[in-house]
Order: sequence, then C-alpha cells, then structure tokens
Amino acid sequence: MHDMLVRLVRLRAAEPLVRRVWEESGVLVRPCRSYELHLLQRWIHENFSPKWVSEATVAVCHCPPACFIATQRARIVGFACYDATSRGFFGPMGVEENLRGCGIGEALLVAGLQRMREMGYAYAIIGGVGPADFYRKVVGATDIEESTPGIYEDILNEG
Ligand SMILES: CC(C)(COP(=O)(O)OP(=O)(O)OC[C@H]1O[C@@H](n2cnc3c(N)ncnc32)[C@H](O)[C@@H]1OP(=O)(O)O)[C@@H](O)C(=O)NCCC(=O)NCCS
Repeated sequence: MHDMLVRLVRLRAAEPLVRRVWEESGVLVRPCRSYELHLLQRWIHENFSPKWVSEATVAVCHCPPACFIATQRARIVGFACYDATSRGFFGPMGVEENLRGCGIGEALLVAGLQRMREMGYAYAIIGGVGPADFYRKVVGATDIEESTPGIYEDILNEG
C-alpha cells in the first residue's frame, strides 16, 4: 500500500459530476453534517471497517466537517474524508457495493479534493492506496516513490 499525489491546481470542477449522479441515480453528494455522525459511523461499520469508522469520526469532528457523503432516498450510500489521519491526506472513501460504477466515487473524490483546494492545499495525498487505477484515472494521481510504509504502519489487531 503506497501513497499517491494529486495536483489540485488543475482539478476539474465537481459540480457537473455531482449534477450527473443526481440526475442519473437520484444520488445527492454533499458535505456531512455533525448531527449525522452516528448514522455515518453505523453505515461505515456495516459496509467497511472499524478503522474507517475511527477516521471518519475525526474528519466529521472538524468544523466544518472534512467529509462528504452521498445519499439516496435519505440513506447514506457513500462517503469521502480528508484531514482524517494526517493533514493534507484524502481518504478513506467508499461507495455502497451495489451502486459502484455509477460515478458516485468520482463525484465524492472531486468534491472532497475541491474543498481541500479551497482550503489552501495545492496538493493532496491519497494515503495507503487500494484502487490506484481509480485515482489515476479520475484525478491524475501519481505514485509517490518510497512511500511504503506510510502513516498506516504497526496496525493493531482488532481482537
Ligand atoms: C473505489 C470506489 C470508491 C470507486 O467508486 P465508484 O462509485 O465505483 O467509482 P465511479 O463509478 O465513480 O468510477 C469512476 C471511474 O473510475 C473507474 N473505476 C472505478 N473503480 C475502479 C477501480 N477499482 N480500478 C480502476 N478503475 C476504477 C470506473 O470504471 C469509472 O471509469 P469510467 O468513467 O471510464 O466508467 C469503490 O469501488 C469502493 O468503494 N471501493 C471499496 C473501498 C475502497 O477501495 N476505497 C478506497 C480506499 S483507498
């Protein structure tokens, strides 16, 4: 698991991507609100990992929350965080399995990175990447050499 770098200066606008998932799938991509934290935690626990629950909790506890969610019919179907474990880092993010491939991940990723750029970041780091090709394709992320091990080392056992 290595880290990737995203140059934010030429990031495309999130608005057309957000509009597209709304029009095609009835999915709303918007900032998470602090009073939704318990719902986000439960959803991430059911769909992903307890570690991501912890990271998302930190992200939502920033003011304003450093987290976007995707919702459909008033239910969470995706999320994306930044500044969760290290400043300037984007992630974790995830989309409900049966809704993948509809552009929701792309909209969440670009919306989150756009917010980071607005906050003054010139680059974002995707830490401990899983789907590197997704990040390469959607935002032109490049591999950071010798970035393993990164911030995710000495991982504690859950048991
Ligand atoms: C990675 C993830 C967030 C992508 O979300 P998604 O909603 O399926 O992605 P999108 O539909 O917006 O895909 C946008 C483009 O990226 C491509 N893509 C999506 N996932 C990809 C992958 N794993 N590898 C390569 N390309 C991928 C799509 O084909 C699409 O390309 P297209 O526009 O040419 O059709 C989702 O698969 C997921 O939740 N995975 C499990 C959690 C995870 O790995 N999170 C990242 C942790 S670092």
